[in-house]
Amino acid sequence: MLFILLLAAAAGSDFILSQAAAAEIALEGCPDKCGDVSIPYPFGMGKAGCFLPGFEVTCNASFQPPRAFLAYTPGDGKATLQIKQSVAYSGADNSTSQLSTEQAPLELMDVSVEKAEARVYSPVMSYCRTSLSDRLMKTTGVQLDNKGPFLLSVTRNVLVGVGAWRSEVALVTMLSIASNTSESFILYCLSDINGILRYASNGSCAGRGCCQAAMPPDTVPLTVFMLGVKKRQFDPEYPGGNSPCSYGMLVETSWYNFSTTDLSGYEGLSNKLSRGAPLVIEFAIRKGTCPAAGQRSPKDYACLSRNSYCANATSGEGYVCKCAEHYDGNPYVPNGCQDIDECKLPEKYQCSNGGTCENRLNGYDCPCGPGMTNKGGKCSEIFPTVAKAVVGAVAGLLVLALLSFIIILRKERRKTKEFYRKNGGPTLEKAKMIKIYKKEDLKHILMSSNVIGKGGFGEVFKGFVDKVEVAVKKPITGNLLESEQFANEVIIQSQVIHRNIVRLLGCCLEVDTPMLVYEFISKGSMDDILHGEGNKEPLNLDVRLRIAAESAHGLAYMHSQAHIKILHGDVKPANILLDENFAPKISDFGISRLIARDKEHAATVIGDRTYMDPVYLQTGLLTEKSDVYSFGVLILELISRKKATYSDNNSLVSSFLDAHKKGEKATELFDKDIAATENLEVLDNLTEIAVECLNLDVDQRPSMTEVAERLLILNRSRKL
Ligand SMILES: *[C@@H]1O[C@H](CO)[C@@H](O)[C@H](O)[C@H]1NC(C)=O
Ligand SMILES: *[C@@H]1O[C@H](CO)[C@@H](O)[C@H](O)[C@H]1NC(C)=O
Ligand SMILES: *[C@@H]1O[C@H](CO)[C@@H](O)[C@H](O)[C@H]1NC(C)=O
Ligand SMILES: *[C@@H]1O[C@H](CO)[C@@H](O)[C@H](O)[C@H]1NC(C)=O
Ligand SMILES: *[C@@H]1O[C@H](CO)[C@@H](O)[C@H](O)[C@H]1NC(C)=O
Ligand SMILES: *[C@@H]1O[C@H](CO)[C@@H](O)[C@H](O)[C@H]1NC(C)=O
Repeated sequence: MLFILLLAAAAGSDFILSQAAAAEIALEGCPDKCGDVSIPYPFGMGKAGCFLPGFEVTCNASFQPPRAFLAYTPGDGKATLQIKQSVAYSGADNSTSQLSTEQAPLELMDVSVEKAEARVYSPVMSYCRTSLSDRLMKTTGVQLDNKGPFLLSVTRNVLVGVGAWRSEVALVTMLSIASNTSESFILYCLSDINGILRYASNGSCAGRGCCQAAMPPDTVPLTVFMLGVKKRQFDPEYPGGNSPCSYGMLVETSWYNFSTTDLSGYEGLSNKLSRGAPLVIEFAIRKGTCPAAGQRSPKDYACLSRNSYCANATSGEGYVCKCAEHYDGNPYVPNGCQDIDECKLPEKYQCSNGGTCENRLNGYDCPCGPGMTNKGGKCSEIFPTVAKAVVGAVAGLLVLALLSFIIILRKERRKTKEFYRKNGGPTLEKAKMIKIYKKEDLKHILMSSNVIGKGGFGEVFKGFVDKVEVAVKKPITGNLLESEQFANEVIIQSQVIHRNIVRLLGCCLEVDTPMLVYEFISKGSMDDILHGEGNKEPLNLDVRLRIAAESAHGLAYMHSQAHIKILHGDVKPANILLDENFAPKISDFGISRLIARDKEHAATVIGDRTYMDPVYLQTGLLTEKSDVYSFGVLILELISRKKATYSDNNSLVSSFLDAHKKGEKATELFDKDIAATENLEVLDNLTEIAVECLNLDVDQRPSMTEVAERLLILNRSRKL
């Protein structure tokens, strides 16, 4: 979005630039320059149509650089031209003789369409002493076509006389002819230093060596003037030597700076200004008037540009065209008026409020900088420095806090990821059966109010995930696991689906020791049921037989029927869970062992020694027969409802074994609740199986499958 905006802005400025570059001052196909002089329409050169009538310019290329002249046809009395005449005076016989008359086109200096004026070089008059009694006067003048577009500017020109004669001073006359009549008037000024040159001073044009006279503001529109000397008195004692001449010129106001050096030399100033001195002429479209508001423009209306307007000519008839405010260029050509980039003209367009200049069409704006506001025409800061400092400090602190928060968060996230990887996440991702929980998924369950079990391995929590009741096993942290090994175990476990084995639903790997999520089994463990405090539920033999048979079935399945042999390693009543129908479900297969083994000291044996196969304790080699031994202890607990303990030399086991050795029936060892006569055979059979399981010769122990089958048969015989 930003990019597009920038692009648009760039394109916009480009557009303005190209427009500016294309802004023509002349009509299409017409030359717009002669030498160094720009020729804007309605002035023009070349073919008809490149200029309006009266505005034709000719370019004389024999000069270097070429010079532009207002066109005229010699002999045309109405033409715009300059006039030069030479007149000789003789003091000897008071005679006057005209020596020559000359007409030439007016050279164009420059044109300002904006001011509706042009400057032309106008000739300088001189009056010089040629001998004690003889004088030579070179009168000069300018004639503008009185039907043409030009008028002499009354306000922008001034009559200047330069001379140092005592009495016969520079008396300059001016002849004028009004454009609509033949009225004329004389303008003059007087310069007299009485022949004493030091009375003249540089820069001052106030009658001593230099004089000037402005035209009265109400002067009628002028088209013609002539410059000359009106002799007051012939004075033979005029100063000679260095200042034999006086001069006169009609020149742009303030242009001429008097210098005493201009008094010296014969024809000194005339030679210095041989090309002429600038004379301001005004131009206008004399034919026609501005259309009144709402009126349609006349057919040959000259204000062609958009954003231009028409104004009455300041003097004389007709109108001029102007570019609208905030535009400049040539209003006389189509698209001549261009938007002004005011910001590039800081002298003319200031931001008085101290803001930054921004150009726009039809003007410019001065928005205050960031943190500033325009108050009473001045950009001032919204917040005082103190407030700013406070805001800055607070913002700084906030940023710091945010940064540290982000760092902690990232660290946490990195740790989470690290754990996930370490705990075999990538491997487990490939296993479809297992769900990998996020820390957040289980967060609501891992609260002390949800704890349902505690032990050396850690804690078990109960709760719901995705509307399924689960038990979450959270091992004590700080265990180091072989990630691949753990992952593999989890995968294997998750593939085991058996009604007598607690189903592993998933795990959470984003903690240093992975948490395991199991299906929740409602009645708790066999250990709780048999030995739990308080409400000791009476358990009939059938229930016990079923628990034994199905547990054995589950174990047998794990040992042989599952496609990979899985050993339990810690078979005990606490790991046999019971559902609401007393159906047993074995929990804590290999994984728990895996976790526990890493957690506890390597030297200590894992699992409960009470149920531990003594052979395994000796060799350290866990086999399926180790599980068989533990199952034997479990059967004994089931039928005696007594807790086997390792500490009292495993009296429960030894009591049964002793009784069996002696060939006695262990009747008194059975739980009184089930020791009814009709049960004794089954109980004896159970004892027999248990004792076989407890055989210290591993090879003599039955396999779990055999145990399961025998228990199944026992169970079935009961139901017949
Ligand atoms: C150009 O100027 C020269 C010198 O003043 C003059 O002789 C010549 O006639 C002029 N040419 C034109 C075309 O006006
Ligand atoms: C010329 O005119 C002046 C006064 O204007 C006069 O004093 C003088 O005698 C005249 N000279 C001749 C030769 O006529
Ligand atoms: C000539 O112009 C002047 C001023 O513009 C005006 O007062 C005068 O009446 C005009 N004369 C004629 C004959 O048009
Ligand atoms: C006027 O200025 C010129 C140089 O521009 C200098 O030669 C001349 O002496 C100055 N005149 C006076 C009176 O200072
Ligand atoms: C006269 O002086 C003014 C101001 O210093 C300057 O702008 C102007 O160009 C001067 N004129 C000439 C003919 O040098
Ligand atoms: C312009 O001149 C016309 C007549 O030439 C006149 O009616 C009009 O009021 C003038 N407009 C202005 C703004 O002076």
